[in-house]
Amino acid sequence: MNNLNDITVKKAIKGLKGTFTIPPDKSVSHRSLIFGALTGGKVKINNFSHGEDCRATLKIIKNLGCEVSFLDERTLILNAPKELKSPLEVLDCGNSGTSMRLLSGMLAAQNFKSILVGDNSLSKRPMKRIIEPLSLMGAKIKSNDFKAPLEIFGTKLSPIEYHSPIASAQVKSCLLLAGVNTQGTTTIYENILSRNHSEKMFKYLEAEIETGKDNKGYYTKIKKSQLAPKDINIVGDISSAAFFMVMAAIIPDSEIIIKNVGINPTRTGILDIFDKMNVNYTILDKKIISNEESADIKISYSPHIEGCEISGEIIPRLIDELPIIAVLAARANGQTIVKDAQDLRNKESDRISALSQGLKKIGIDMEEKQDGFIINGSQKDFSGGKEVQTYLDHRLAMSFFTAGLLCKNSINIKDFIWVNTSFPEFLPIFNTIYST
Ligand code: S3P
Repeated sequence: MNNLNDITVKKAIKGLKGTFTIPPDKSVSHRSLIFGALTGGKVKINNFSHGEDCRATLKIIKNLGCEVSFLDERTLILNAPKELKSPLEVLDCGNSGTSMRLLSGMLAAQNFKSILVGDNSLSKRPMKRIIEPLSLMGAKIKSNDFKAPLEIFGTKLSPIEYHSPIASAQVKSCLLLAGVNTQGTTTIYENILSRNHSEKMFKYLEAEIETGKDNKGYYTKIKKSQLAPKDINIVGDISSAAFFMVMAAIIPDSEIIIKNVGINPTRTGILDIFDKMNVNYTILDKKIISNEESADIKISYSPHIEGCEISGEIIPRLIDELPIIAVLAARANGQTIVKDAQDLRNKESDRISALSQGLKKIGIDMEEKQDGFIINGSQKDFSGGKEVQTYLDHRLAMSFFTAGLLCKNSINIKDFIWVNTSFPEFLPIFNTIYST
């Protein structure tokens, strides 16, 4: 049965056309608030995300004593107290793993207790990856068998050198946020570099931070620092842009320009895959915005998409784009094999299993693997005519929507409304570029 949370998607009968600005990056929006809260001063944040995840972080930093006022829809002034205040309520991270993991690092080094909770999905996600290294620093954290809720008894921490067993920006950022409040040098190593927005924002806000590579891997070293209250401008989100980039590539007669897309190299794995798969795109008008690279990207219908292998070092650079890359692969000539992506099972849903259930149901040839998937592409319309489950996962909702545009029979997407987690502007933008 259809209700207001669901949506029906029909086969696209014309191309996408137009120029639009992609909404702000979710990762950078979270960090602008959390880092801003540590400046002890006034920070103007321009182009802040409207997604529910970032709203959860906003509410939490207010609970920690920050004053926030909006000048307009996307511009806010954050007034941070000299010292964060003990919260009067439980801190609700909603669906947002980034909020819970980054805030844990910040809160572990405060002189008060806080409790972080999340929704059903977040309460099932692994927190051992942050609790273990924070405990090595001396943090006191009670959890539900290494899952939320997390009771954090803030205390003075000791610096550590930690080699992260996974390439996770959330783990790295959590430890950097603990380290920036800890005497001495905290060092984090990764074998593969995960997204580096935290390192870039710490540098921008004048923290004592050093990044590089040696024989042990990629390192980030941070010393106790007072962050400078500087205005932060947020670039557009390439993970949101990815849905429209793929749509334009697979729907005949499309040509779109997406403005202000963040192209930090630790996030642009999807563009490297476009090169491999023969997707037509051009980077225009590059600039730097608050230490992050941004550009406009032009994408047009790509009639000769080729399958490829996606594995190894590139995975963290496109981890959030793998569901939509699966849809691109479904339209390719030949096979696409994704490996080394087992952490996809720990996202807002088990994205390997949920994606394969949905895509198979509408006629896409997909095989689930423990650490990825295999897709045999086809140029024919997919059968569709079924209802798919999003498992309350925003990126699955938008990936299924895109796949639905290639189906002979319309599909129903259950709980499509979860798109609002990161991208409430998704449907309005689609309706604009599909109608012109
Ligand atoms: C994020 C890091 C990634 C990504 C998530 C946002 C961040 O998670 O999947 O959507 O903002 O640091 P992991 O650190 O778990 O890989």
